[in-house]
Amino acid sequence: MIVLGIETSCDETGVGIYDSGRGLVAHRLYSQIALHAPYGGVVPELASRDHVRKLLPLVEGALEDAGIHGSSLSAVAYTAGPGLIGALLVGGTLGVGLAMSWGVPAIPVHHMEAHLLAPMMEKDGPGFPLVALLVSGGHTMLVDVRSIGDYEVLGQTLDDAAGEAFDKTAKLLGLSYPGGPALAKLAEQGNADSYRFPRPMLKRPGLDFSFSGLKTAVMIKVRELEANGNLDEQTKADLASSFQAAVVDTLVAKSVRALDQTGYQRLVVAGGVGANQSLRQQLGPKLAGRGACVYYPGLEYCTDNGAMIAFAGLESLKADPAAYQAVLDYTVHAQARWELGQPLSG
Ligand code: KG4
Ligand code: ZN
Repeated sequence: MIVLGIETSCDETGVGIYDSGRGLVAHRLYSQIALHAPYGGVVPELASRDHVRKLLPLVEGALEDAGIHGSSLSAVAYTAGPGLIGALLVGGTLGVGLAMSWGVPAIPVHHMEAHLLAPMMEKDGPGFPLVALLVSGGHTMLVDVRSIGDYEVLGQTLDDAAGEAFDKTAKLLGLSYPGGPALAKLAEQGNADSYRFPRPMLKRPGLDFSFSGLKTAVMIKVRELEANGNLDEQTKADLASSFQAAVVDTLVAKSVRALDQTGYQRLVVAGGVGANQSLRQQLGPKLAGRGACVYYPGLEYCTDNGAMIAFAGLESLKADPAAYQAVLDYTVHAQARWELGQPLSG
């Protein structure tokens, strides 16, 4: 089976082709970061228009890389949500159109499902069941993953996502968009013990997160330091490092709690914040100490990409081929909001 995957939920135009025998045979990605940087965040209208410009050439290039024609594909998978509605519609419309012209199934994929399955593309990827910690710019959640399509959200953020907290705090410190990686880099020069920021929701039971209070605590400290003329480069690095430590401590503690609750020994960490080195450095020994393993996607598949959509589409097709082949569904599914584990509503 060979599946073409299309990702356009936010600011990356991604295309991947996954072959059940050979693995990933094509992977093309175009990042819109430079387009949105002057605005300090993603501008949805510009994102949609850029996906329109870039997507088809990327699909053509990926087919060339794989050395196949579209008609030899088994299916076309596309991100149906959650994400920016205009951006989703571009990928969905092209994906369904191509599937229709090649006479193959079109598979709507949940963006977060694709993130959580991404580590399975690696050589020594995890089996089921597992707990997934999904940490991106739009989501922070812990998920009980029993098998393909069988997901239960155990906890999620009540306000800001972890990546969003990184991005907003980076902005406060004058770092350029997207702030997460820049803040993590600055944090390497700082001392994490300089400031003691709150570890949100750790004292409460349960697996939910909240990061907006932490962001506000940093903001108050930044204003105070600024007013006193003390916000020099080293102080900024110390703030970045102390903030990062608060987020990482929280993510690590709740992940361990989720493993205790489910009794599982596998943790998958996926989404953009999963690229954070400090998070990785802390999770490894912590989990090893309790006989559990942590799995990550390859670094280039942590952030949004088409390979993970192709892989998730392939896994869904393998799990239930009849569901996609009996009646070919060429409805373009696009849902800005879509709870993981729930069926599409339209
Ligand atoms: O999964 P992703 O590419 O897109 C979404 O679906 O949101 O995640 C992007 C998020 C951004 O908030 C970005 O700042 C954050 O992941 N991020 C990081 C790092 N690399 C990316 N945050 C902390 N440390 C990093 N190294
Ligand atoms: Zn994502």
